[in-house]
Amino acid sequence: MLSPALLLLAPAVAQAASVQLAGLTLPDDAPTHAAAVKKIFTDAYGSYKEKAWGFDDLAPLSGQGTNGRNGWGATVIDALSTMSVMGLDDLFAEGVDFASKIDFSTSHTEDTVSVFETTIRYLGGLLAAYELSGSKHEVLVQKATEVADKMAFAWVGDNDVPYGFLNFTTNEPTIDGSNIAEAGTLILEWNRLSELTGNKTYGELAEKSFRHIATTNDTLLPSLPGQCINPTTGGWDCRYITWGGGSDSYFEYLIKYARLTNNADPLWVESWKTAVESTVQNLIVTSDVGGWAFVADFTDDKVVRHIGTHLGCFIGGNWIMGGRLLGNETIVKYGLSLVDGCIATYNTTTGIGPEVFAYSSKDGNYTGATPSADDLAFYQEHGWYVYNGAGYYILRPEVMESNFYAYRATGDERYYQNAVRFIDSLNNSTSVNGANAGIGDVRQEEWGASGFFDDTESFFFAEVLKYLYLTFDDPAHISLDEWTFNTEAHPLKAPPALDSYEPKEAKKSAKFRL
Ligand SMILES: *[C@@H]1O[C@H](CO)[C@@H](O)[C@H](O)[C@H]1NC(C)=O
Ligand SMILES: *[C@@H]1O[C@H](CO)[C@@H](O)[C@H](O)[C@H]1NC(C)=O
Ligand SMILES: *[C@@H]1O[C@H](CO)[C@@H](O)[C@H](O)[C@H]1NC(C)=O
Ligand SMILES: *[C@@H]1O[C@H](CO)[C@@H](O)[C@H](O)[C@H]1NC(C)=O
Ligand SMILES: *[C@@H]1O[C@H](CO)[C@@H](O)[C@H](O)[C@H]1NC(C)=O
Ligand SMILES: *[C@@H]1O[C@H](CO)[C@@H](O)[C@H](O)[C@H]1NC(C)=O
Ligand SMILES: *[C@@H]1O[C@H](CO)[C@@H](O)[C@H](O)[C@H]1NC(C)=O
Ligand SMILES: *[C@@H]1O[C@H](CO)[C@@H](O)[C@H](O)[C@H]1NC(C)=O
Repeated sequence: MLSPALLLLAPAVAQAASVQLAGLTLPDDAPTHAAAVKKIFTDAYGSYKEKAWGFDDLAPLSGQGTNGRNGWGATVIDALSTMSVMGLDDLFAEGVDFASKIDFSTSHTEDTVSVFETTIRYLGGLLAAYELSGSKHEVLVQKATEVADKMAFAWVGDNDVPYGFLNFTTNEPTIDGSNIAEAGTLILEWNRLSELTGNKTYGELAEKSFRHIATTNDTLLPSLPGQCINPTTGGWDCRYITWGGGSDSYFEYLIKYARLTNNADPLWVESWKTAVESTVQNLIVTSDVGGWAFVADFTDDKVVRHIGTHLGCFIGGNWIMGGRLLGNETIVKYGLSLVDGCIATYNTTTGIGPEVFAYSSKDGNYTGATPSADDLAFYQEHGWYVYNGAGYYILRPEVMESNFYAYRATGDERYYQNAVRFIDSLNNSTSVNGANAGIGDVRQEEWGASGFFDDTESFFFAEVLKYLYLTFDDPAHISLDEWTFNTEAHPLKAPPALDSYEPKEAKKSAKFRL
């Protein structure tokens, strides 16, 4: 209960919404762990550079069959902001020089180029590196402009929604369906490019796609649009609901764009809030062994599908962030439970979790596949099991990403210790030839037993090692109250926060209650 004195003071002390816990202090051994993460970065980057630099098939935008994701150009650009965050100034200078020499006006790949992957890795990487370096290297914005001017060809005629892939030689898009992650995860980067160049077109293109998705009412549950969108018609090719791959970062960007634009349009925060409420009402499921909280999928036939994914483990961190911005601790608590559920999937012989997992609850156990007897036995011990053989781990960040938000938001040492353990797990299970590679099965008993993926995703450098490092770094450095991460962990400068991100109507009624 507020004392009369406090009531009087209330308007004067109105405080900016804060994601981080004020006054968080790190345990004494934090610098040791930060140094260990930095060493993993320099070892892996050095090894990758030694083996990959100069090979034709690793020229910028070459995709090794994966649509412009893993080429050397992607790795350098994707790693830049992590180098800056870690204070690796020489590597950063070398990387900026490398990036400044890439000619994006011609194609360097025999593949088509993914508009989504190139946006989050190249645009995000270049613009974050520019901002982190104190706006020193104008060439980074120029290079981002070159890439975006090519990608702008993905918007055809009056279409709101871009096609997903482009031929960078002819600038012709592949006429095909897309998904709401690809079409709805462009706005942070393209909007920032507009702000930095003064050319409004970039932000307008991305925003019309984002708005198209956010304003549809053709959904099975409120504000949870289906995964498959058709750029040609603007309609939905499926209504499958998931917070996992193919949809994930559309939801992530609703609250992040609200934060970066400080609610210039209430649509984003309203859509996010309703999406969360729909999910709480329909899709949060508690496993009947272990009692873990997971977010289920919802099929076109309106069946709750009891699976979860490593990709979907970003949700915990996103809800912690959004809950704090809205001043809604219920959402923060859900976020923290979801972090715990995802951490539970790391309870394996390697200390790392799988790509896809499944579980059952008192409401049922439909997954779309039939678990083996071993899966069911594993479930009885863990409260989750590997779905349909998808036990691999390809150096994805989402579990440690959400764990980082949980730590910065609560200061609970449990989250700190999760990150400490993960350094060891990563080092023990994914190290090979001085670098790191994905593994075939997180349930393996011996190092290397399930095989390695002959490839290091650039998000290992951009995301995994950045989030881990920041968990052990001074919370005032890259504060979540001053920077907003794109979905590839590239920090973009955020304006001073509003006191609350509640949509106007709700804010009024809150004031009234006071
Ligand atoms: C990783 O493991 C190697 C030996 O396998 C060890 O030399 C190194 O110190 C470890 N690194 C970290 C950061 O634990
Ligand atoms: C891109 O277009 C060029 C020129 O028509 C063609 O040679 C090339 O095969 C196309 N690339 C892809 C991936 O379709
Ligand atoms: C702004 O960007 C659009 C999209 O790439 C481009 O077509 C247009 O020429 C740019 N305008 C200026 C003034 O550079
Ligand atoms: C969606 O909105 C349109 C236009 O406002 C309306 O005609 C239609 O009935 C709505 N559909 C649903 C499912 O609410
Ligand atoms: C906080 O969020 C929960 C979950 O969406 C919702 O049910 C509740 O109404 C919200 N509280 C307020 C005060 O808006
Ligand atoms: C799901 O339910 C069926 C029928 O009750 C049961 O046979 C099966 O073992 C259950 N699977 C899991 C993973 O609990
Ligand atoms: C972790 O897994 C072991 C089996 O390997 C199990 O006995 C233990 O209960 C699990 N811990 C949690 C917290 O789920
Ligand atoms: C990693 O390996 C070290 C040394 O063999 C061992 O002490 C540690 O328990 C391992 N950690 C994990 C998480 O597997």
